[in-house]
Amino acid sequence: MYESQIGFIGTGYVGLVTAACFAKLGQDVLCLEIDNDKIQSINNGISPIYETGLQDLLFEVVKKKRKLYATNDRKLFFDKCDIFFICLPTPSNSDGSINLKFILDEIKEIAILLSKSDSYKTIIIKSTVVPGTTNGKIKNILEKYSNKCVGTDFGLGVNPEFLMEGSAIDNFLNPDRIILGSNEINTKNTLSKIYNNFNCPIFHVTIDEGEMIKYVSNSFLATKISFINEIANLSEFFNINMDNIVKGIGSDHRISNKFFRSGLGFGGSCFPKDVKALLHLSKKYENELNILKSTLEINNKQPYRAIQILNNNIDAFNKKITILGLSFKPNTDDIRESPSLKICDELVKQGCEVHVYDPIYVGKSLPTHDYITISNSFNEAIKDSSAVILVTEWAEFKNLNPSDFHLMKHKLVIDGRRVLNEKSFINSNVKLIILGNGNK
Ligand code: UGA
Repeated sequence: MYESQIGFIGTGYVGLVTAACFAKLGQDVLCLEIDNDKIQSINNGISPIYETGLQDLLFEVVKKKRKLYATNDRKLFFDKCDIFFICLPTPSNSDGSINLKFILDEIKEIAILLSKSDSYKTIIIKSTVVPGTTNGKIKNILEKYSNKCVGTDFGLGVNPEFLMEGSAIDNFLNPDRIILGSNEINTKNTLSKIYNNFNCPIFHVTIDEGEMIKYVSNSFLATKISFINEIANLSEFFNINMDNIVKGIGSDHRISNKFFRSGLGFGGSCFPKDVKALLHLSKKYENELNILKSTLEINNKQPYRAIQILNNNIDAFNKKITILGLSFKPNTDDIRESPSLKICDELVKQGCEVHVYDPIYVGKSLPTHDYITISNSFNEAIKDSSAVILVTEWAEFKNLNPSDFHLMKHKLVIDGRRVLNEKSFINSNVKLIILGNGNK
């Protein structure tokens, strides 16, 4: 444990999960946030975001153990903490580069406070920033506005996160590895102390290396998905079951079968953004990563594969089509870059009446997409429907069998995530097409 309170700037999904997990481990943490509603909610032990287990964890560390507290008072935050983790968003610019505005504005405020302080503070960038950012723009602003020097007057490092939405708490508490990036011994020692209770491999690297590891991890995983999706698209021309292909190649331990599920492409706030940013960086250095260009191109097309199959089987114009799943993956309400929305939009363009059922969106509306109907139940969504496309593999969809679809008008089910049991549909009155398997 670290002797003083640890500070987290930004209580989005990464900041809040990380702060709450550190608090669970017994660390006192303080969160700086500008949104007063969020502060109030956190201090009442109520999670402002949906993440598996976070509500209970927050209640425990705020209400019972009093280990976590949120404030908007930057001066108080600065005085109480010796180490701050920056957990602010880095959204995409239209050219694919990352927008550093939130981080750089905050860094300037910290630098001004540093200029008036005699204490040694350490700033750790947890946000995803491209190689060269922390030791470049961030360091320059800190030194310029504080009139102090990194290493001698304050510490600076990176500590990328590898949390998956939906299992972020488990990922934090049981990590595969921890990456600690620093260019000087003080920050290296501080980071070591903070993470001294973890049993996994801990790698001390430079700041640039830490930033690069994060981008390469996400880009590699995204590329693995696009690769298997292209293979699945080809496999549809043969009598092939993709599960057997993945088993066959994935049991070579150099390849592994993990993160190798073909489907309708990757979404979320991380993979698309990070792949674009690394690609943009590579172009800037005239070293274009062509493989990432393909990764994105394949992924942009992949959701429409389900529509191609639909159009090959029925005339969908003016018909009710049901989409199962809205979020970009199960166990989250996050719809950023969700393949489901791309499919809904295209179907509406093609003149279909689109109804969506997603367990986490029951009773909710989607004002940005008011042309799609959000159903309150599975049965409501499929009643009189001409086809169902399963887009998000929520647990409750996995055991669906032919009789569950009896209310449909025309019984065509397209499984875009390969979760339904093909055998149970044989000899039924429901035509099941599983993406990636032969015999379309
Ligand atoms: C991802 C990474 O997995 C985390 O390690 C990383 O910390 C995080 O981004 C981040 O940078 O913050 P996340 O975006 O939460 O996490 O989601 P994943 O579970 O990785 O899934 C991403 C997408 O890939 C989803 O749309 C999912 O459906 C798709 N996917 C995943 C596949 O299509 N096939 C697979 O085999 C696995």
